[in-house]
Amino acid sequence: MTASTILIVDDERTLARSIKAFLAEFGYEAEVAGDGEKALELLESMRPDVVFADVKLPGMSGIELLQKIRAFDPAIPVIIMTAYGTIAGAVEAVKLGAFDYLKKPIDLEELKLLAERARETSRLKQELSHYRRRGGRDVPFAGIIGESPALRAVLEQAHQIAALDETPPVLITGETGTGKGLVARTLHASGPRSTKPFIEINCTALPANLMEAELFGYERGAFTDAKESKVGLFEAAEGGFLFLDEIGDIELSLQGKMLRAIEDQTVRRVGGIRDRKINTRIVAATNRDLEREAQQGNFRKDLYFRLAVILLRLPPLRERGDDVLILAEHFLRRFSAKYGKEVHRIDPRARDMLLAYPWPGNVRELSHVIERAALWSRGPTLEVEHLALERPIESAGGPSSDVPVRPSTPGAPTPGAPIPSAPTPGAPTPGAPTPVANPALPASGVDLPQWEKSVIEEALREAGGNQTKAAQRLGISRDTLRYRLKKFGLQG
Ligand SMILES: Nc1ncnc2c1ncn2[C@@H]1O[C@H](COP(=O)(O)OP(=O)(O)OP(=O)(O)O)[C@@H](O)[C@H]1O
Ligand SMILES: [Mg+2]
Repeated sequence: MTASTILIVDDERTLARSIKAFLAEFGYEAEVAGDGEKALELLESMRPDVVFADVKLPGMSGIELLQKIRAFDPAIPVIIMTAYGTIAGAVEAVKLGAFDYLKKPIDLEELKLLAERARETSRLKQELSHYRRRGGRDVPFAGIIGESPALRAVLEQAHQIAALDETPPVLITGETGTGKGLVARTLHASGPRSTKPFIEINCTALPANLMEAELFGYERGAFTDAKESKVGLFEAAEGGFLFLDEIGDIELSLQGKMLRAIEDQTVRRVGGIRDRKINTRIVAATNRDLEREAQQGNFRKDLYFRLAVILLRLPPLRERGDDVLILAEHFLRRFSAKYGKEVHRIDPRARDMLLAYPWPGNVRELSHVIERAALWSRGPTLEVEHLALERPIESAGGPSSDVPVRPSTPGAPTPGAPIPSAPTPGAPTPGAPTPVANPALPASGVDLPQWEKSVIEEALREAGGNQTKAAQRLGISRDTLRYRLKKFGLQG
C-alpha cells in the first residue's frame, strides 16, 4: 500500500513542522502550507488523503478553504484545527462538511487517530462508489425485464448511452406502457450522473405560459404573481437529467425556446435579461409519431431532428414474443408476495391466452391484469378465469376461436367487468343503482372481501379517483367508502 498523504495548513510554522515530523514516524507523507492559496496549489499536485487546516489563516479563512476543497473533491476529508475560543466556528465547519475538528493545543496522539479514521472513512467511501459503479456495469438495466431480441437491441443502445456523461438528447418512443419512463429513469440511474438530479415534467399537464415559467424559471416582477424569482427546471436539473415526458404535446409557441435551450445549453428566465449556462442532459419521450407530425407541420422539424439524434424505439409487447410470459411471471412473483399469496405457476391455457392477447396497454396493462389475477387466485396456479381478459381483437367474434375467453361459470366473479352503469330504461326506480345480476357462484366458493375490494377499486378507477363519485356509483356514503378504503389498505 502506498503511504497516505496529509496536507497541513497552518501559519504557525513550528507547530506545522512538528506535526509533519510526528506523522512521518508513522509512515505518513505530510506537506505544509502556510496559507489557503498555497494549500489549493498543493491540493492539485499532491491529492492528499486528509487535510488538517487551522481555522484562522492569513488571507482566506479555514472555512473558506474548506468550501474550496469540498468543491474540488468532496471525498477529501478536512479536519479543522481551532483554539479554545473558537469552538463554535469548528462546529459550524463540521456542519459545512468538515470531517471533524481538533482543539489546540494539539494532542498529537489525537491527531494521529483522527488522521487514521479520516483515511479509513474515505477509503471505504471510494470502495463503495467503485462497487456501485461496477454493480451498474455488471447488471446493465437489471430492472428492465425481457429477453426478446427486439427489446435487447434497444437496451444495448441505451446501455451504451448511459455510460457517457455527455450526449446529445435522447428521444424514447413507443406505445403507451412500453416502459419509456422506466428506460429514462434507468438511463439516469446507471450512468455517471446518478447522484445528480433527475427531474421529470409532463408536457401535457400545463398550458404554454405556465409551462414556460416552469421550465425556464422567472424573475421577480415578470408577471403579476411573480413576487419572487424562481429557478426553472432546466436549471434545477443542473448536472443531471431533465426528462420531458409526452414531448409531442408541447405547444408550438414554446418549441422554439426549447430548441434554443437544448442547442446552446443556455436558458433565459421569463422577464430576465441574462442567459444562464446549463449542463443538463435531456431525455424526451413520446407515444406519438413525431416524425410524421413534423412532416405535417404539427411539430417543429428542427426540434424533432435535434431531439431524435439518439432515438430509442421501444417495441410493443405483442412484438416481444415470450417476454409476455417472462414479465407475467415477474409480476406474479411481485404481487403474490404483496398480497401474501402462494401462486407460483401459470396454467398452460392461461399462458396461451397471454400470448394471444394483443396488449394495447403493453407492460402496464399486463401488470394490472396479473395483479388482479393474483388477487383472485386461490391455489398455487393462476388459471384462465383469473385473467379476466377480453377476447383478443384479432379473433373477436370468430366462432372457431379456441382461445378461451370468459369462462361460462367463472371461478370468481369477473372483476374486470364494468360496474353496471346508468339505469337502463325500465329499471325499477329511475336514478337508483341497477341491481347487479346474480353471479353464478363457483362450487369452490367466493372470497367476498376480495370481491368487494376489487369492485371498490373499479369504481374509483372509473370515477378517476374521485371518492364522492365512486361512493355514488357504489350506492354507499362517502364515509362508508372512506372506511372501506382504510380497511382494505387502499388509502392511508
Ligand atoms: N421491461 C419491463 N420490465 C419491468 N417492468 C416494466 C417493463 N416495461 C415497463 N414496465 C413497467 O410497466 C409500467 C409502465 O411503464 P412506463 O410507465 O415506463 O411506460 P410508458 O411507456 O412511459 O407509458 P406512457 O406512454 O403511458 O407514459 C411501469 O410500472 C414500468 O415499471
Ligand atoms: Mg410514461
